[in-house]
Formats: sequence, C-alpha cells, structure tokens
Amino acid sequence: MRIIVTGAAGFIGYHLCKNLIKKNLEVIGIDNFNDYYDQSLKESRNKELVATASASNNNFSIHRIDLENFNELKRLAYSFKPNIIINLAAQAGVRYSITNPSAYIQSNIVGFANILEISRGLKVQNLLYASSSSVYGGNKNIPFKETDNVDHPISLYAASKKSNELMAHTYSHLYGLPAIGMRFFTVYGPWGRPDMALFKFTKAIIENKPIEVFNDGKMTRDFTYIDDVIESIIRLMSNPPQKSTNFNYQVPDPSSSWAPHHVFNIGNCDPIDLEDFIRIIEEELNLKANKVMLPMQPGDVASTASDTKKLLDWIDYKPQTNIKLGIKKFIEWYKNYYKHRN
Ligand SMILES: NC(=O)c1ccc[n+]([C@@H]2O[C@H](COP(=O)([O-])OP(=O)(O)OC[C@H]3O[C@@H](n4cnc5c(N)ncnc54)[C@H](O)[C@@H]3O)[C@@H](O)[C@H]2O)c1
Repeated sequence: MRIIVTGAAGFIGYHLCKNLIKKNLEVIGIDNFNDYYDQSLKESRNKELVATASASNNNFSIHRIDLENFNELKRLAYSFKPNIIINLAAQAGVRYSITNPSAYIQSNIVGFANILEISRGLKVQNLLYASSSSVYGGNKNIPFKETDNVDHPISLYAASKKSNELMAHTYSHLYGLPAIGMRFFTVYGPWGRPDMALFKFTKAIIENKPIEVFNDGKMTRDFTYIDDVIESIIRLMSNPPQKSTNFNYQVPDPSSSWAPHHVFNIGNCDPIDLEDFIRIIEEELNLKANKVMLPMQPGDVASTASDTKKLLDWIDYKPQTNIKLGIKKFIEWYKNYYKHRN
C-alpha cells in the first residue's frame, strides 16, 4: 500500500503520518508549510516525523509543494503511484475566512480540484478528504446527521468544504473514483492548532492574559480527540465505498449515492458547554481564567453535535475519548513542548 497524505505538517496530518510510519507503510507527505499559524510548530512536527521514520528505516519525507501547483503535484504523485490519497491540506479556520476569502478558493477549491484530477489519472483505490462539521451551517436540529440538508453554509470555509463534497461526488459518478468525505468535529489534542480554543485558552491562562469568550459563553462544541480521529481514518482507508445498485432515486439520501462516494461524521457525540470546557482547563492548570465576554462572531455557530451511527456501522468504531482526559493530555504536551523551546 502506498499512501500520499497532504497537509502532513499540519495537526491531523502529523498524527496520521506518525501512525502510518509506525505501521511501516510506504507514505509520503505534502505540505506548503504556510504561515497561517506558527511555522516553527509545523517544522517541529516534521522533525518528529523524520525521526520516527528513521528509527524504523522508513524513508518518509514531506515534499514542500502547493496543492495549487498542478505540475509539481502531478510529477510527484505519478512517480510515487499511490493506491490511497488522503487530502488534509486546506486553509482551515472559520474566522479567518471572513477576512481572507481568496486563501480558501485557492487551497480548498483549486487545490482540491488538482487532487481529484490526480486521483482520477492514477485510479486510486480510495480518496479520503477532510470535510467539516461546518457544512451543517445554520442547522439547529442537533445532533447533526449525514442525511441532513447542508445547503445553508454561513462561512466561505464551510462553503469550500461542501463544494469539496460535491466535486468528489461528481468524480465518483463520472470516473468511478471511490471517495470518502470526513466531516471532522472540532479536533483537539497534543500538537494541536494555535488558532483553536484549547490552545489559545491554555496559552493565555498560563501567561495570565485575558481569554475571549464568544456568544457570552453560550456555545457548545463536540470536541473530538485526535487519536479517535486517526483510528477512524485508518479504518476508513481500508473500507472504500462501492457503487450501489439499491440507491433510492425517488428519495435520495444526501449521505450516500449510487456512485462510490460517502460522507461520514467523525465526532465524539458528546458536546460540552464552553463554560465547562474552560472550567476543566482551569482545573487542569490550577489557574483561573480572566474571561472577556464577547458577542457571537460572524460565520460561527452556537452548537455542534455529531450523530456517528453511520460511521459506527461502516467501520465498527466511533470516537469516545472523554474530554477531561483529552484536555489533560493536551496540557501535558503543551507544557512539555514549550518548556523545551523557551
Ligand atoms: N482541526 C479541526 O478541528 C478540523 C475540523 C474540521 C475540519 N478540519 C479539516 O481537516 C484538515 C486538517 O486540519 P488541521 O487541523 O490539521 O489543520 P492544519 O492547518 O494544522 O493543517 C493543514 C496543513 O495543510 C497545509 N496547507 C494548507 N494549504 C495548503 C496548500 N494549498 N498546499 C499545500 N499545503 C497546504 C498547511 O501548511 C497545514 O500544515 C483541514 O482540511 C481542515 O479544514 C479540521
């Protein structure tokens, strides 16, 4: 099995590559190491991956390529000939999309179109790509199910992820490309992203700085621990969708198709209030947060919660890590990582 992972220097990509290297699979990474957040964190993840690989005689490396650069991407992919492509590279983040829309069009639309073309050309056995819980947009009916209508995005980030699902479906239909859209729900854990709440709150509380609490704290999120996400991806990798002959065209199910394309929620099914989330961080740090209450941000949603029955039925697994344990593991990593860097 030969696997390409894009976004390999990113949070989820790093953990996935580490797992694949430990399984001694043939894998290469792609990432442009962009400056959306601290590039030194991406370099550190890369260093860790290279060290893990060399310890097990695996010649993993990350190729510094933009997804938008079709020729370079094609040259690399055609020489490696992957059976599986896992596309995690993207311009992430909802709030940034309000002020920097073009980054989302370039990485998430143009870049993903290139991934589809290459997957088609190489006839890969399974294309897995990151979608997001953001596709549920303004929906209020929770938990979110894959069968829900997702035609009401409220940020360009969400619209780009929903577009990816539509683009992938079309390729599945036209060219028989097996493809899986993974709707991740607020992933967290060690090596996590500096632009996300857990990282920002932990850093600010340790540095005795205020934390910004949006919608006056009236938010809930279905935080999903990174190891559970990786286990889900690994299982989905070896369970590609097939063409279906019993698709109901009269009552079309938005989560599946006659074509070999499926979308899955990957979430913890256990949403937590923002106030409780902050309290657990405070307890773990043994420090008090200085909260600044702010209104709801444009593009943000008040609540997310996943229904993961479809995932459980497909791979006999669903995320399950308790939030207290997950936060504890993040904080252990954070303290250790920054102690050695300061
Ligand atoms: N972390 C979450 O909670 C979450 C939730 C829903 C969806 N997702 C999606 O999962 C994927 C991975 O997320 P993450 O949290 O690891 O984000 P991340 O930002 O840490 O990782 C993405 C990586 O992709 C790289 N990248 C971005 N644009 C690129 C381009 N045009 N060409 C090459 N490389 C590029 C970045 O340098 C980065 O290292 C993304 O598609 C994201 O939208 C994440």
